[in-house]
Amino acid sequence: MNQQQFQRDAYLARICDQNVDIFDDKYHWNFQPEDLPLDPRAEFAHCKRTFLEIGFGHGEVLEELIPRHPDTGFIAIERRPPRVRKCLKRMQRVGEQRAKLMRVNLELLRRRLFVPGSFDDILINHPDPWPKSRHGHHRLFQAETIDWLADILIAGGIVEVASDHTEYFFTILHLFETHPQFESLMPPPCYTDQPIPNRPTSRFEIHKRRSGLTVRVMRFGKK
Ligand SMILES: C[S@@+](CC[C@H](N)C(=O)[O-])C[C@H]1O[C@@H](n2cnc3c(N)ncnc32)[C@H](O)[C@@H]1O
Repeated sequence: MNQQQFQRDAYLARICDQNVDIFDDKYHWNFQPEDLPLDPRAEFAHCKRTFLEIGFGHGEVLEELIPRHPDTGFIAIERRPPRVRKCLKRMQRVGEQRAKLMRVNLELLRRRLFVPGSFDDILINHPDPWPKSRHGHHRLFQAETIDWLADILIAGGIVEVASDHTEYFFTILHLFETHPQFESLMPPPCYTDQPIPNRPTSRFEIHKRRSGLTVRVMRFGKK
């Protein structure tokens, strides 16, 4: 086993144990390493669709989406424990059995997390841009990330990404445009910088728009 794999296995074992201790809550999906890969469709067998939000932050968007889609089971991932804790309170308020949060750092645990075709929809609002080039390896979006997203989406599934960071947005757009398994669901130039009616917006995004930044959104379908 190489060093990187060893570190990832150690991380997996550590967060599985920690999560059981700190997120003993019906809205948190606690698992053990041997449970991987997880099957969200089996977890939400009573739902027609499955939805994944990556990096949910404070969880406002998730809270708005859940009641709007009564036939959908929601999985939402965030690496920061205080944000997970805050969002668990939101989930208790929403009171639906169709949502599970996961405290996971996707940088360390991605490939093995979900079975292929786990999701109908994936939402990623404002992935951290890590603007310094020496930190670029921390970015969620690398070439292999698009392969992973293609793997966990069903055919016809949709991924939506929003960002206020111009360089990162166009880097991500290029990764999708050049990937053989994705096609844009928006006409050229394959994104919009206009607000989309009824699209839930986080406080983070409202703040960015108010401070004059352009927020762009792309939407790609898996062929
Ligand atoms: C800029 S914030 C955006 C939050 C939210 N999506 C919004 O639009 O308000 C990015 C979020 O992604 C989370 N995040 C960044 N890298 C992550 C990773 N590797 N795994 C899981 N979550 C991550 C951060 O903790 C943070 O909450």
